[in-house]
Formats: sequence, structure tokens, C-alpha cells
Amino acid sequence: MDYFLINGGKKLFGSVAVDSAKNALLPILAGCLLSEGIVTIKNVTYYEDINSMLEILQLLGIKIQKHENVLVLDCRYIDKYIIPLELTNKLRASVFCLGPLLGRLGKARLAYPGGCAIGSRPIDLHISGLAKLGVHVIDRHGYITAYKGNMKAGKVCLPFPSVGATENLIMASVLNLGRTQIIGGAKEPEVVDLCNFLNALGAKIYGAGSDHIIIDGVPSLAGGEYTVMPDRIIAGTYLMLPLLCGGEVEVINANGEHISPLVELLKNNSCNIRVKSDRIIVTAKRRAKCFGKIETLPYPHFPTDLQQPLSCVACVAKGTTIITENLFESRFKHVPELVKMGAKINICDSSIIIDGVKELFGAEVVAPDLRGGAALVMAGLVANGYTTVKNVNLIDRGYFALEQKLSMLGADIKRLKE
Ligand code: UD1
Repeated sequence: MDYFLINGGKKLFGSVAVDSAKNALLPILAGCLLSEGIVTIKNVTYYEDINSMLEILQLLGIKIQKHENVLVLDCRYIDKYIIPLELTNKLRASVFCLGPLLGRLGKARLAYPGGCAIGSRPIDLHISGLAKLGVHVIDRHGYITAYKGNMKAGKVCLPFPSVGATENLIMASVLNLGRTQIIGGAKEPEVVDLCNFLNALGAKIYGAGSDHIIIDGVPSLAGGEYTVMPDRIIAGTYLMLPLLCGGEVEVINANGEHISPLVELLKNNSCNIRVKSDRIIVTAKRRAKCFGKIETLPYPHFPTDLQQPLSCVACVAKGTTIITENLFESRFKHVPELVKMGAKINICDSSIIIDGVKELFGAEVVAPDLRGGAALVMAGLVANGYTTVKNVNLIDRGYFALEQKLSMLGADIKRLKE
């Protein structure tokens, strides 16, 4: 198992480019199951989660050529529809294969998905949405089995804008003739990217980015070429670095509109932020001010995936920050680790109250999940002395070679083996 050794306290200067959006690439790769041609995907970053998804696609029959940042997928022959536990266990996003397998083969079976331990993470909305369209779903012995059966185009109203359920319903409907409407679906930019990709292969999806998505079913999808959007959560993580450590960081491939709640917070804090069309530059010379009251909510509001990185900045900001987590119930597992480093945080139901301290100190900490792990790396960067962050494999699921990017900005961070 790898771990990071960080000697904190360095100011960060320089440029860093944002890799592709893991959460756009995952459903896009699952969406390849709908294509009967050859699909080329550009701007690919091989995060651990992407490698896990590629393993699943390979098992189902897709032939994959991996090039640097480009994937070529031959999707012409897909003959398997079962995804076993050893593959779903590694990746919650394996559930994204349910909709496209139904579209392509009329049936799908997968073991209950695993993924980051940030709460119970049910998939009831995926299942009830499919059932509403007439899909026959059987939930037995730890496997979900779905048959297209009498699936009909129709209207599905989601009681909560689940990103995954919206994406699954879209993919299940693309090859289902007639008009399907998803009301109350997720508006996240990753949903829009998925729809743009599917449309590039011949799908007819309208209204992505709104809460009323219309899918006019088509008989088949061809091959095609698509460039994936950059990752807004990684962009957001890098943007916080100068406020945390001091210095100036230029974040290339950052779309400010995709993370406007964070950009607004930075604009009102002790830093200078310049937003350009394809990059954002943040300069900070003074200690951060606290952030007041923040709550995580579905897009376009403050994203839950930036909650843990922001909480780290709040640990050393002047004053008190209160963050309420409304999406996942177990997303504060990084808090006891930050406390080991000298942070003053109290957990109160679904909120954390952070009283900023002047200084964190190095300690041995364990990444509890992907974004919590990133937050601990950030804490290590600002802490006085040496920090060891264990369980780096969880961070690798969604940050590619993070230590190399941070080293280029002047951080003293090394990846070592236990
Ligand atoms: C996606 C992202 C994840 C992000 C989250 C919210 C991917 C691969 N992951 O996860 O990084 O944190 O969006 O922006 O894209 N829920 C149910 N029943 C369901 C589905 C969801 O109750 O069937 C609940 C979840 O438990 C959670 C909330 O809805 O409380 C949000 O989940 P959802 O939007 O589905 O997130 P994911 O698609 O899992």
C-alpha cells in the first residue's frame, strides 16, 4: 500500500492542468455499451476508478485500446450481461451499466455495487425509475437483475435529483423507441457531458442541464469521437491551495461556471481570483477568513465533493465556519484525522463546526475515502512538520498522480511504499 509523506509549510506557485472529469468519464464509458461501432474518447485520465470500469467493459465484450489520454473502444460485439461482485465491489459506478445493458441486450444482472464508504448509498431511485418505465427488476441474493420486458417510453418523476439515477434512466431510454421524460433529474455538468456524448453517437436527448430531460428513442447508436470535460472537483481542490498555503496557482482547464459557489467564496476571501475562459488564477498572501455557513446541495449549489477539501481550509482560517452536509450521512470521517493534526472541529448531526486555528501540525493520518483523503493531503501541505497520509489508493480513485502535480507547485510530498 502506498502512502504520502508530506513536509508541510511550503508556499505553492505555478500552473497545474486539470485532468478529465472522473464522474463524466464513468457514465460515458458505461454509455459505450449502447454503441454498435467504434468509439474514440479523448482527454482520458486513467484514475483507478476508470481502470475498474474498463475491466467491467472488457468482461462484457468491449475491446479496448489504451493510448496516452485516448481510449478506442470497439463496442460491436457485446454478449455478456452479468457483472460479478469482485468487479462491482471496487466501483459503485458499476451500477451505470444497468441502463445501457438493458438498452443494448434487454437484460442486465449485477452484484450490489461497492464504492466509497460515505453513507448507505442506496440505488432505490435507479430501480424505481426503471420499474416506472416497465422494466422488470428482481432484487435477490445480492444481485439486481433487470429485464426490459414490457419497457415503454413514459414519464419518470424523480423525488430527488440523483446524479446516478438520472444517468441510468437516460441510458436505459436512449434505444427505447418513443419519448421518455425525466422530471426532477440532476442538472450536474457531468450529466450534460454524458448527454452530449450520447448525442454525438446519434441519440436524441434534449434539455440536459435542466430538470426536464427528454429522450426520443432511436433504433441504434453508431460509433464516434468525444472529448471529456475537465474535472470540476479537482479544479476546485487546486483553487483552494493558495488560500490554504499562500502563493499563486494557475489552474488550467478550469471552468469557473461549473464551480461558481466556490469561486464566489474565494472572491469574498483573502485572495485575489482571476477567472478566464479556460483557466483560473488564485493569489493569496494572507491567512484565509472563515466561510460562515455553507451547506452542500445538488448542482448548481455547493457540491458535496468539495465539502471535505473546504473543511480543511476552514481549519486554518480566521474565525468559525459551519458546514452542513445534506447529501451523504457519513462524509465527516476525515474529521477525527484533522483533529489529530490540531484542528478544532465539532460534529453536530449533519454539520461540523470548525474553529480555525493558527497552525496544524504533522501527524500520521489515514484517508477514509477519496475526497476526505484529498482533504488530509491538503492539511499535510499546510501543517508544521511531517504528515503521513495512508490509504493513498482511495485518493488515486479520483486524483491522478496528485503528488506529482503538487510537487510541481513546490510542495514537498513523496509517494512511498509501506
Ligand atoms: C455522484 C458522484 C459523487 C457525488 C454525488 C453527488 C459519480 C460517479 N459520483 O454520485 O461523486 O458526490 O453524485 O453530487 O458521478 N440516493 C438515494 N437513492 C438512489 C440514489 C441516490 O437515496 O437510488 C441518495 C444518495 O444516498 C445520496 C443522494 O441521493 O444521499 C445523492 O446521490 P446521487 O446524486 O445519486 O450520487 P451518486 O450518483 O451516487
